[in-house]
Amino acid sequence: MAQSQLNDPPQAGEGGPGAMLGRRVLGIKLSPTIAMSERAARMREAGKDVISMAVGELDFDTPAHVVESADAAAKRGFTRYTAPDGAPFVKDAVREKFLRDNDLSFGREEIHVASGCKQVIHNAFAATLDPGDEVVIFTPSWVSYIDIVEFCGGTPVVVETRPEEGFLPDPAGLEAALTPRTKWVLLNSPNNPTGAVYPAALLARLADVVAAHPRAMVMSDEIYEHLVFDRAPRQSFMVAAPALRPRTLIVNGVSKTYAMTGWRVGFAAGPRWLIDAMACVQSQTAGSSNSPAQAAAATALTGDQSEIPRWRQVLERRRDLAMEILRRCGRLDVRAPGGAFYIYADVSRCIGAITPGGATLADDDAVAEYLLDAAHVATVAGSAFAFSPFVRLSFALDEGRIAAACERIVAALDALTGPDARDNRGASS
Ligand SMILES: Cc1ncc(COP(=O)(O)O)c(C=O)c1O
Repeated sequence: MAQSQLNDPPQAGEGGPGAMLGRRVLGIKLSPTIAMSERAARMREAGKDVISMAVGELDFDTPAHVVESADAAAKRGFTRYTAPDGAPFVKDAVREKFLRDNDLSFGREEIHVASGCKQVIHNAFAATLDPGDEVVIFTPSWVSYIDIVEFCGGTPVVVETRPEEGFLPDPAGLEAALTPRTKWVLLNSPNNPTGAVYPAALLARLADVVAAHPRAMVMSDEIYEHLVFDRAPRQSFMVAAPALRPRTLIVNGVSKTYAMTGWRVGFAAGPRWLIDAMACVQSQTAGSSNSPAQAAAATALTGDQSEIPRWRQVLERRRDLAMEILRRCGRLDVRAPGGAFYIYADVSRCIGAITPGGATLADDDAVAEYLLDAAHVATVAGSAFAFSPFVRLSFALDEGRIAAACERIVAALDALTGPDARDNRGASS
């Protein structure tokens, strides 16, 4: 199929090659963060000095002992299929992690291992959603939740959080969103893209709301759990809400904690009936995740953990550096994130403004485009996170590039003219 046809496929049922595409795939899009990173890479190949603040991964190297363990595993012949949802020793490593980090004890039959947290989430939804089943998602939200839910046949029910409340979910808003069709409530703390860290008391209040709806389960995405700043406590949902354990699935992975995004290993802990069903999905899709990568993940989870606090400190310094520069910008409103490695900057005061080239910035997509063209900084527009007008800035890059990128952003935005305020904060896209 020609590339142009792939880029602009006819709707299902129409003639031509696009008719081959199913309705489900026509409903989803290439992850916008990946799309923006690819655009930045193409500009770099063309010789432009582009700094990407679009990426969702640490710039650190995977620790050497982890890399070596994959090498050793492959050399000793650990290169075959494993059990669909993880080799037993890898599941044991995940159990050890939960005991050490969260004081949670699981049996092997309560653990699922797949190719990244993204696939874990997919497996859980594929295993449970029927058409009409609803999944409550708080926005701003990670780019993939809505698409994965739709791909699996479910209906996303979006509940907005508020910047002025630190993007924390409101239990009353959750209560209003729950219906007899709600199958899942998705929580993500520390949050991508806002960096919000949900306090334990809030998790418990949210759990109380869900408890009254016996058919609803909670998926707690804790992939950024170790990236919590300002010495704030971190809390697993299952610890804050133990009574809901039979209806909770914790999803997590090695990508963000151990700088292992490309290894593709994620995991989950939850009730056995669900873990069994997720294993079925995994067995008929990926078979199992990559075996040397599983061995590497087991080493990461059980080996030396001393990089984690060091990386956290580095990230905290980078956050402070970025905040110090961005706060100077008359067109941005920024709040310091409590965790993860993103700043979700409010660009309300850029909307309607005129660029030096005479264009009007109509929305946050236009702001992100302008920053790429004028400042050569790649960011991700808030529309990707279903909450506009914002841009997400990743500070997972070295201090020199953070400073350069933020200075360029400030200069480009300060060069805008025209209206400096339009109150469309909080509007969904
Ligand atoms: C909130 C959240 N959940 C899950 C993932 C997926 O992680 P993985 O690399 O393990 O698939 C990401 C990656 O960006 C994320 O930000």
